[in-house]
Amino acid sequence: MIATEKTIEEKGWDVGRIREDFPVLGQTVNGKPLVYLDNAASAQVPRIVIERGAKYLREEHSNIHRGVHYLSQRATSAYEGAREKVKRFINAREARECVFVRGVTEGVNLVMHGYGRKLVGEGDEIVVSEMEHHSNLVPWQMLCEEKGARLRVLPMNDAGELILDEFDALLNERTKLVCVGHVSNSLGTINPVKEIVARAHKQGVPVLVDGAQGAPHLKVDVQDLDCDFYAISGHKMFAPTGSGVLYGKAELLEKMNPFLGGGSMIRTVTFERSTYAAIPDKFEAGTPAIASAIGLGAAIDYLNSIDREAAHAHERELLRYATEKLSGIEGVRIIGTAREKASVLGFVIDEVHPHDVGTILDQEGIAIRAGHHCAQPVMQHFGVPATARASFAFYNTKEEVERLAAAVEKVIEVFA
Ligand code: ALA
Repeated sequence: MIATEKTIEEKGWDVGRIREDFPVLGQTVNGKPLVYLDNAASAQVPRIVIERGAKYLREEHSNIHRGVHYLSQRATSAYEGAREKVKRFINAREARECVFVRGVTEGVNLVMHGYGRKLVGEGDEIVVSEMEHHSNLVPWQMLCEEKGARLRVLPMNDAGELILDEFDALLNERTKLVCVGHVSNSLGTINPVKEIVARAHKQGVPVLVDGAQGAPHLKVDVQDLDCDFYAISGHKMFAPTGSGVLYGKAELLEKMNPFLGGGSMIRTVTFERSTYAAIPDKFEAGTPAIASAIGLGAAIDYLNSIDREAAHAHERELLRYATEKLSGIEGVRIIGTAREKASVLGFVIDEVHPHDVGTILDQEGIAIRAGHHCAQPVMQHFGVPATARASFAFYNTKEEVERLAAAVEKVIEVFA
C-alpha cells in the first residue's frame, strides 16, 4: 500500500537530486546525519539563493533608489526585480501592491498601524481565529486596547478546524477586519481562506491572511483568494531572514497611513508637514534589507525552477507517512488532526515534556521545535503547555521520517 502510494505521489520527484541544492543538509549533528524537521520555523536556503546574495555583496552592494551611479542602479534594479518576481509568484495585480517587510510580524504590524489605527474606533470589532500565531493576534489586542475596540474569536474544534458555522454570527457593521492564518503553524490546518474572504466580503469586511505557512506549501493566488492583505515570511520559503512581503490591494494601501517615518517614504518635507510617496515606497522607510529582498527573488526563481506540484505532493506524502508512523506509537498523541493539513505534525508524549523530546531528538541529529509555537491559545485549547513539532519541506525523505519515529520510540524508552 505504502509502496504504491509512494510510486504515485512521488512520481517525478527526485528528492536526492533536490537535496544537493541545499548545502546545509549534508552535515552531521552529534555524529549523525542531520535530519532537519524545523521547516515551519525557518526553511533551508538553496545554493542559488546563497550565491545570489553573495553576488549582490561582491558586485552590487550599494543603496537603492538614491544614487545615480552604476552600483546603485544595479542594486535598485535587482531589488525592484525581486518585487516583480513576488508579484508574479502570488499573482498580485501590480508590483506596487507588494511591500517589502521583514516578515509576517512586520507585515501585520504595518496593517495594524496603517489601517487599524486610522480606521478602527471605539466599539469596532476585529475578528481573529483561535489558532492564530501571536503575530496575528497580539497586534490586534494592542489595537483594541488603544482604541477601545473588541477582539472577537472564531473558535476551532478538537481536530483543529475552524468552526465556520459560527463565523457569520461574528460579523456585523462594527467589524473592521478579519485576520486569519492560511495554514496553522502549530496544527498544520489548512484554513478555507477563500470561503472566509467571500463570507467576510458579503458583509463588506476586509480580510488579512497570514501566509507564513501557506506560501511555502500551497499555491498562492491573491486574486483568486480575493483577500485584501496577504503576508509572507521569506525565511520560511527558502530565502534569507529579514525578507518578507505584505501584499495589499492598492486601494487599501493607498488609504492607509505610513507605518515608519523617515527617508525614502516622503514626497516633500517641511517643518510644518510632510507628504508621502506613492505605494509601496510610502511603507518602506529607510534603507531596506536589500540583500534579503534580492534573496527572496532568487528563492522564487528556485521555486519556479522545480515542479512545485510534485514538491507539494511529496510533502503531503511525508506528512501522511509521519502521521501514520507516530500514531502507531503507544503514548504519542497527535495535536492537530484536521482533514486538510500541510507539512506540520504536532505531538505530545505521555509524561514527557516536549522540551525533553526536542533535546533527545537533537542528540539523534534530528531538529524539531518544542514549545508553544507562539500560539499559546492553541495550547490552552488542547490542555497542553507545549507540543513537539516536526515540520516538513520537499527536501525531506521518508527515511528521515523513519529516523524521527525511531527517535520518538527511544524517548519513550528513556522515560519508561
Ligand atoms: N513562527 C515560527 C514557527 O512557527 C517561528 O516556528
